[in-house]
Amino acid sequence: MITIEEIKAQELNPQQFIADRCKEISEAVGEGLAINALSGGVDSSAVTMLGHKALGERLKTYFIDNGIMRQDEPQAIVSLFKELGVKVEIIDARDAFFQALKGINDPEEKREAITQTFYKNVFGKLVKESQAKHLLQGTILTDVDETVAGIKRQHNVFEQLGIDPQAAFGYKILEPLIQLRKDGVRKLAEALGLPASIYNRMPFPGPALSARVIGEATPERIETVRLATTIVEQELAGVQAFQYMAILHADRVTGMRNKQRDFGQQIEIRCWDSVDARQARPTRLSFEILEKLADRMVKEVPGVVSVTYNIATKPPSTMEAI
Ligand code: XMP
Repeated sequence: MITIEEIKAQELNPQQFIADRCKEISEAVGEGLAINALSGGVDSSAVTMLGHKALGERLKTYFIDNGIMRQDEPQAIVSLFKELGVKVEIIDARDAFFQALKGINDPEEKREAITQTFYKNVFGKLVKESQAKHLLQGTILTDVDETVAGIKRQHNVFEQLGIDPQAAFGYKILEPLIQLRKDGVRKLAEALGLPASIYNRMPFPGPALSARVIGEATPERIETVRLATTIVEQELAGVQAFQYMAILHADRVTGMRNKQRDFGQQIEIRCWDSVDARQARPTRLSFEILEKLADRMVKEVPGVVSVTYNIATKPPSTMEAI
């Protein structure tokens, strides 16, 4: 197994790190082209800035609209990077992802479907068209740990699983952030000139809202969790927490609406205090905030009759529900 030497956030010298990684990226890519996918999270944003520092126009950056991102996310991220002088192209791949997710209920099978669609189908095609031989990716050490430990297969981890991306997908993957954890990436992102809205941004999982839907991720169910996510993010914006989220459950429960029985849907809210995502505790939200959340969920998200707040710690929970 490959051993990766961790660089702790407090030991990180961002300017040195930037110089070292830029040199490595330039040497690996040579005169060729590289490609990367930006999701707007702190990891992929930091990689995008690093790659552009190292390669300039020779790095082609794409935002893959997989249909499972949050409200208006693709357009908002692309405009933000435009202001930073980085051109990002949006690829509409919504149909391909929903087709791949069709009929799948198992969490690991969902991750696998997303991985295959992303790397083989959508991204594989882009890489071929662009003639890039290298793919830059924001894998961090926590992704590797959890995949190797068999807890969750992070969709961006290959070599640690014994998969050779060159053989499987036809390109080489460069992972300049692999020695860092989230707190280190935030420090780096700030040093790279990204705005606070990015370097302080909450983590968001690779499988996006499909990780927030228990059971099948259909367009309708994704829309339900997207609405619930907007409400959670609006209501908890002022709370100091590591991450907050809404989860759509597969079970239905009996409720009542307009004096009629309504066998409705359940939303679970999670809000975590954590430093590096390895351990986490539920934030002690006030009951006023919880009541406001419940009130908006049942009024604004069609079909929801039950709203719960998770109070278990990680471990044994994980932060995402699938
Ligand atoms: P878990 O759920 O493993 O999440 O406790 C730890 C942190 O990693 C983020 N994250 C992911 N989680 N699959 C996941 O389950 C992914 O592909 C992924 N990518 C990132 C998660 O949001 C949490 O901050």
